[in-house]
Amino acid sequence: MTQVDYLRISLVDRCNFRCQYCMPEHLELNFLRRAELLSSSELLTLVREVFIPEGFTRFRLTGGEPLLRPDVVEIVRQMAALPQVIDLAMTTNGFYLKALGQDLYNAGLRRINISLDSLVPDTFARLAGQPLTRDPAKSRWQQVWQGIQHAYELGFDPLKLNVVVIPGMNDHEVLDLAALTLKRRWHVRFIEFMPIGNEVLFGERGWVSSECIRQQIRERWGLAEGGVKGNGPADVFQIPGALGTVGFISQMSECFCDRCNRMRLSADGWLRPCLLNEIGQVDLKTPLRAGVATQDLRDRIHHLLTLKPEINYKNRESGTQGLGYARTMSQIGG
Ligand code: GTP
Ligand code: 5AD
Ligand code: SF4
Repeated sequence: MTQVDYLRISLVDRCNFRCQYCMPEHLELNFLRRAELLSSSELLTLVREVFIPEGFTRFRLTGGEPLLRPDVVEIVRQMAALPQVIDLAMTTNGFYLKALGQDLYNAGLRRINISLDSLVPDTFARLAGQPLTRDPAKSRWQQVWQGIQHAYELGFDPLKLNVVVIPGMNDHEVLDLAALTLKRRWHVRFIEFMPIGNEVLFGERGWVSSECIRQQIRERWGLAEGGVKGNGPADVFQIPGALGTVGFISQMSECFCDRCNRMRLSADGWLRPCLLNEIGQVDLKTPLRAGVATQDLRDRIHHLLTLKPEINYKNRESGTQGLGYARTMSQIGG
């Protein structure tokens, strides 16, 4: 049985982008109020006294956009200092990396995954739901690109770039994006578009399979299996002679539930054993605020861990329609 030792922690459900595949403009989202978010000390208590004793050793800070959280550097500092934390990573849209990269690095963060869906500024802006601009100072793409370069120069390693591939929007760029791995130790991962967040766009555009992208790369440069695997579901390959790798996250063409090693903690303290199934979710914040002993919370999680193999996409029931899901990735902690 796969050991569940990877916790994805959403620090905040808000985001400064409105990526079309994640939280499109037309979607009304009831964002959490500040008082509803777990405070940093509540979060640290849960990590130290509940998750670590229950065997979690790998943690990823996500959002929404985790860098919107004013105390993010302090959270990183405190988590990185825990000896039981063998891996601490972050998934971000990269917009604030130029400003915060150095502080995050100094606080002990060493690895980071950044969304980069396009190399064309207008396409990037369109995908991220941002206004088009000719002014480089206002270009979201420029900001993110500079954030990525900055993170690379600071020494973040591995540095991964996530691309959600959408037919007719950025699928013609897959070779340009894969080419980023040739001369830099960047790890580009192509993600199959899922009908979470924007089912309308999904219905209109569909999705591109990982195999289809691999085939294009194979024809252009050749492609070999191998490279260091992360904690997530990506299958890793390498273009011969490249410094970086290309990864594929294939949740549409392949079911990776059987090797699921993770749970998710939402910004308001709900622990969810599966991205696509609300069964078994537990509210940890209410009992924590009510003064329930952390031993009691550990027992609840322990029980949930025994149920986890049965709680997956295949066995989902409530909160779902068709392939879809009641929450966006930004609300669950993509
Ligand atoms: P590492 O491999 O350790 O670098 O982490 P990761 O790939 O888990 O992290 P990241 O946040 O970059 O995840 C990339 C994407 O993989 C997510 O945004 C999702 O699209 C997808 N993903 C991650 N976990 C799951 C999961 O449990 N189920 C599904 N369906 N998709 C997932
Ligand atoms: N399909 C696939 N991945 C998605 N993400 C958000 N929405 C979707 C979706 N509909 C992922 C992207 C992004 C991360 C924050 O969430 O990988 O990089
Ligand atoms: Fe924000 Fe990331 Fe969602 Fe884009 S994918 S809207 S950057 S949370």
